[in-house]
Amino acid sequence: MSFIAERMGRFEPTASSVATRKARELADQGRDVIALSQGQPDFPTPDNVKEAVIRAMELNETGYTPTGGTAAMKEAICFKFKRDNNLTYSADQVMAGNGGKQIIFSAMVSTIEAGDEAIITAPYWVAYPDLVRFVKGVPVFVECAEEHGFKIQPDQLEAAITPRTKWLFLNSPNNPCGGVYSAAELRALGDVLLRHPHVHILVDDIYEHILFDGIKFVTLAEAVPELYERTLTVNGVSKAYSMTGWRLGFAGGSKSLIDAMTKLQNQNTGNPCSISQAAAIEALTGTQHFIAERSAAFQARRDVVVDMLNDAAGMTCSKPEGAFYVFPNCSGLIGRKPPGGAAIETDRDVVMYLLNAVGVAGVHGEAYGLSPYIRLSTAASMEDLTEACRRVQSACQSLG
Ligand SMILES: Cc1ncc(COP(=O)(O)O)c(C=O)c1O
Repeated sequence: MSFIAERMGRFEPTASSVATRKARELADQGRDVIALSQGQPDFPTPDNVKEAVIRAMELNETGYTPTGGTAAMKEAICFKFKRDNNLTYSADQVMAGNGGKQIIFSAMVSTIEAGDEAIITAPYWVAYPDLVRFVKGVPVFVECAEEHGFKIQPDQLEAAITPRTKWLFLNSPNNPCGGVYSAAELRALGDVLLRHPHVHILVDDIYEHILFDGIKFVTLAEAVPELYERTLTVNGVSKAYSMTGWRLGFAGGSKSLIDAMTKLQNQNTGNPCSISQAAAIEALTGTQHFIAERSAAFQARRDVVVDMLNDAAGMTCSKPEGAFYVFPNCSGLIGRKPPGGAAIETDRDVVMYLLNAVGVAGVHGEAYGLSPYIRLSTAASMEDLTEACRRVQSACQSLG
């Protein structure tokens, strides 16, 4: 009998952390590596947030808090949902947790019975399938074609729904491809969902504020108010406010689901860090001016990277509408040979080739459920990004 439980085998090591670790190992050996494998903004946490944290410590806000967050935290979450998404939640319909990831984990543990299905649109954030499988749920993948902006089409959704479907995951802007659903697209998906009242929707809006070309963000429960009761709207401060290390995510949904998730979190971690709550309250309710500045910076980087990758022989890269990744198609590299090496067969081979030959670390599309693509993060300086793209161009050029 194994000491380690069978369920632990249902977690895969996260592809982006594996890639980042490999890049670090090579760098430690003295190689010049540009790591574009990680999913965190390269900007610092804003000063107003840091100042709020110092004040909170001076006021000794260092004890346990209610599991789902202090009254002020919940008020800030409700305020944010109203201001940004025109969604009205009361305090008992929202909760804070230790990152969006814990919130999603809690939602799965609280709702999935063995054999329940969750529809996951590919490409997807790597964590979703593992979190579903961990609780013996069944991920049902729907591949979303690049020509549709990597977005699920209403007929695909209709075909994927079964009597066992418990959840649909919707992530916009999407990690890894940067696709953003418009209000009309959400409405069309909503028409399908309204025909299937047993399906709940986990909407992951964590990249909401990283948007390009003046696109306006719309979340599902706002576009299709009839789905409000069935939608868990997940968000967090990690990406918009450069606060990945503070571990603060939150959600709004039905009271019964929030109750269940809070009960679980109570026996898991208890409350999210009291100081991180103070930080998040300031992030959500304080000045938002840097959001537009940072989005503009990400957009400028996107433009340069997309153009340069489209000039790399064998790659084509469509323009992400949000988030801070590019997801170029590398089918033109499959079957080609590095000097003295074996032919490239998969996007995993492309990633290994780029890392070993020119020191650029990315993540293979297969990890996100769609091949042959690679994901490169644009959360790096313009200088590093242009140098990385130059290297990718030369690596593609030297393939036979
Ligand atoms: C799509 C998506 N959702 C949720 C998260 C979770 O973020 P956090 O746990 O830092 O709030 C991430 C982080 O990479 C993500 O990419």
